[in-house]
Amino acid sequence: MRGKSVLLIIGGGIAAYKSLELIRRLKERGATVRAILTAAAAEFVTPLSVASLSGEKVYSDLFSLTDEAEMGHIQLSRSADLVVVAPATADLMAKLANGLANDLASTALLATDKAVLMAPAMNVRMWNHAATQRNFATLKRDGVLFVGPNDGEMACGEFGPGRMAEPNEIADAVERALSHAPGALSGFRALVTAGPTQEPLDPVRFIANRSSGKQGYAIADALARAGAETTLVSGPVEIAPPSGVKLLKVTTAREMLAACESALPADIAVMTAAVADWRPEISANNKIKKEPGAAAPAIRMVENPDILATLARHAQRPGLLVGFAAETDNVVAYAQAKLKKKGCDWIVANDVSPATGIMGGDRNTVHIVTAGGVEDWPDLDKREVGTRLAAKIAGALKGTAA
Ligand code: C5P
Repeated sequence: MRGKSVLLIIGGGIAAYKSLELIRRLKERGATVRAILTAAAAEFVTPLSVASLSGEKVYSDLFSLTDEAEMGHIQLSRSADLVVVAPATADLMAKLANGLANDLASTALLATDKAVLMAPAMNVRMWNHAATQRNFATLKRDGVLFVGPNDGEMACGEFGPGRMAEPNEIADAVERALSHAPGALSGFRALVTAGPTQEPLDPVRFIANRSSGKQGYAIADALARAGAETTLVSGPVEIAPPSGVKLLKVTTAREMLAACESALPADIAVMTAAVADWRPEISANNKIKKEPGAAAPAIRMVENPDILATLARHAQRPGLLVGFAAETDNVVAYAQAKLKKKGCDWIVANDVSPATGIMGGDRNTVHIVTAGGVEDWPDLDKREVGTRLAAKIAGALKGTAA
């Protein structure tokens, strides 16, 4: 989030003390943080501590003529890349859900044209109250992003949902939200392959694999949400295409290669597909018959084109070329070798041993292997892997001409 600016609205609740740490975490990650304190928040943390940690002036009064002359509340809410509300009290949620604007915090929330991320914090009964739940649903429908609340013990002694997410969790959510911010990849063209390929033996039989396409679809979705003009070349899968991507459906590896080439030039290519390495040499025009007494047919296989390696050598090589490596052992070592062999820039390596449940499942544990080293990511939902990968790609392309 280097170079990004966050407007942090601190609501009045005991969790406000954690917002001080949040400011530090955001600054460590390279963001600039400007803060607005509600009147109630100023009872929990002092404007001086917020100003010292953020290194910026703290805003709290809608009717301060000096502030309005320096930076009006409209400009304050728009100059940021993201507005974060932490703690988001029941009151702040209710105000935004209903469009109320009677102080600087609520006015800035209503005036902003940027994404808003809320980290709710309140007593468990207040959180569970029908009114709060109604406001929560309304805000989500309006596109407000949320992190937490978490379950746990509260300052008031009760237990349940309502604890504000931890500062690092909020910083992660800020990172994700910034990668979604329209524009992080706008102007860039992306190509993603996903799913298995099917290699026919005859009109009714084929050789394929267990790839579900979920990871590739999640990556295409995340790249499109980040603003990239995205083409998804997909083998046969059972899942719905993400909105906003151009879907090219293919069956065989050779069709997949042709579709990829038709999608060039591209700034980004992420090859997630589990392409069949071989195909039957002959695909019979008619169904192969089981004749009484005849020997079982022998299937001779020939090699399929390697789409990733072909794109790596292509005259229109994508600017950032990312391959996947599904292995069952020595995951990182094989991925490092593959990076060189295939000529791509990054390899996303994962362990697809049956015990991991990764193939076809909703979660993934990946290692990002680049010439510079290896990043081990935790066990994540595949959508989250997509979002983080899009953010990493946006970071890598930042500064290159779109
Ligand atoms: O060699 P291996 O199949 O392990 O390499 C995996 C990577 O190469 C993936 O990114 C996959 O999409 C890509 N690949 C390809 N064409 C092939 C085989 C693999 O693009 N024929």
